[in-house]
Amino acid sequence: MNLKDLYIDFFVSKGHKQIPSAPVVPENDPSVLFNTAGMQPLIPYLMGQPHPYGTRLCDYQKCVRTNDLDNIGDTYHHTFFEMLGNWSLGDYFKEESITWSFELLTKVLNIPVERLAVTIFKGNDIIPFDQEAHDMWIKMGISEDRIVPTEDDNFWIAGETGPCGPDTEIFYWRSNDPIPTKFDTEDERWVEIWNNVFMQYNKKADGTVEELPKKNVDTGMGLERVAAVLEGVTDNYKSSVWTPVIKKIEEITNLPYEGNEKSMRIIADHLRTAIFISADPAGIKPSNTDQGYILRRLIRRAIRHAKKLNIDINSNWEEEIALVILSLYDKYYSELKDNREVVLEVLKNEKIKFNRTLEKGLREFNKVSDKDIDGITAFHLFDTYGFPIELTEEMAKELGIKVDVEGYKAKFKEHQELSRTNSAGKFKGGLAGNSEIETRYHTATHLLNAALKVVVNKDVHQKGSNITDERMRFDFSCDHKLSDEEKAKTEALVNEWIKAGLDVTVESMSKEDAIKSGAECMFIEKYPDVVTVYSIGNSEYGIVSKELCGGPHVKNTSELGHFHIAKEEASSAGVRRIKAILD
Ligand code: ALA
Repeated sequence: MNLKDLYIDFFVSKGHKQIPSAPVVPENDPSVLFNTAGMQPLIPYLMGQPHPYGTRLCDYQKCVRTNDLDNIGDTYHHTFFEMLGNWSLGDYFKEESITWSFELLTKVLNIPVERLAVTIFKGNDIIPFDQEAHDMWIKMGISEDRIVPTEDDNFWIAGETGPCGPDTEIFYWRSNDPIPTKFDTEDERWVEIWNNVFMQYNKKADGTVEELPKKNVDTGMGLERVAAVLEGVTDNYKSSVWTPVIKKIEEITNLPYEGNEKSMRIIADHLRTAIFISADPAGIKPSNTDQGYILRRLIRRAIRHAKKLNIDINSNWEEEIALVILSLYDKYYSELKDNREVVLEVLKNEKIKFNRTLEKGLREFNKVSDKDIDGITAFHLFDTYGFPIELTEEMAKELGIKVDVEGYKAKFKEHQELSRTNSAGKFKGGLAGNSEIETRYHTATHLLNAALKVVVNKDVHQKGSNITDERMRFDFSCDHKLSDEEKAKTEALVNEWIKAGLDVTVESMSKEDAIKSGAECMFIEKYPDVVTVYSIGNSEYGIVSKELCGGPHVKNTSELGHFHIAKEEASSAGVRRIKAILD
């Protein structure tokens, strides 16, 4: 049986409800480009909002981490991975969490206890040593020698702020060498496979922590690693998660994996991530900003390594590999089935685009790479030849020359209005620290959506949304440029609703009832069977807006201030984009 199924079945048998994997592009969290952990889509619930599925949840979550592409090519880093997770939202705590993790590992997955070791939280000035976790592990049969308390490695938080707490990490002895009795965390033959976070604090922007209303458990197990462990291989790409993909690449290149590992791993890894990003309901296409830029970088880097292996770039190599990847995952992720053609087209188009400029770019690169590359030249390679700066850096590194990345960045800023969200911090993978102003923009987004339906056309639907603490951006279906009158009326209607001081209320209901009640929503099929619906209105105005949404929202529209449409423009065919601010 597949590991995902074993995991879910086990936690369902312990009273958990399976929740669907959230999209890789977060729907309500402008602070990150991608979901980087299973807990990320659950932040509002970890912070205290009741979850429509109850207090015990489990899932497999698609995660993307692209902050360190340099690591890709080794045996165990991936830009995309699946995280198996189980959660207690104010339900069970350390005892059950540790007991069940141990039971799953040793009874279901049959891992011998001799191969396991754990770290626990050592304690600091604020939070004490985790005696309870220690005692539970002893009770499970883990010896004192295999329990190591640490401080920094055993406190988990996704970014700078948000829900957090001490954790216990479970390690597996991944080697044929004799297993030492004493656990040495520096010995890389011990690999971390599971992390159980005992989440009881909320860290605030000023660095202080406050107790969460309820104590939660948040766990994460990296599927690729555990699969490798169970199959007894020390290279993740030799586990069944990857072997069909590597086999296809061997076939296409007519080369063995041995000796060509790095490029083959990069091609396999990057194409898989590109597939999941482009299949996401957010409809990301390769571009020069945000998620689209990451997508572009991944595809282009895969192409470059395909070239290294002498793949004929003009053949359908990328499609052949993509079809293998799609077939491995589409049973679990319906969007891969639904958007199969889109995915193949994204890969092909980007390949054609890159190929067109690559030859010229390589010639240009060869001309300028007899010495260190200055910022202007690096920008020229990007601007004219489509070379992402990371590619220039990578090729320069191979030649042992330097690139003035700072100079490049300065030039880039000069030439393009760099999307704010693209700024450095976002690539780190932070946490939904929905600020007060972002919360206001969320609510304003619902009002704008509703106002457009009244003013422009009742068939206007949301196609996308992005919020920063400076503005909101709203994409909607509409076949024409809005007239000045339409814009003015929309703006006036939103402001009228703000002035009216409408209440924002939230309720849980079945998806069926939500649809029947006319609640608006972007990707109905992506929602669980029980959903959260936000309504805006009062007895005088009636309900002006009703949408499926995870929140957060203000309590009353009077908190929003004044709404102003700053810009209306085309986004893509049949889709218009409004940028608006609250002042
Ligand atoms: N959220 C925890 C992690 O990512 C479980 O390690």
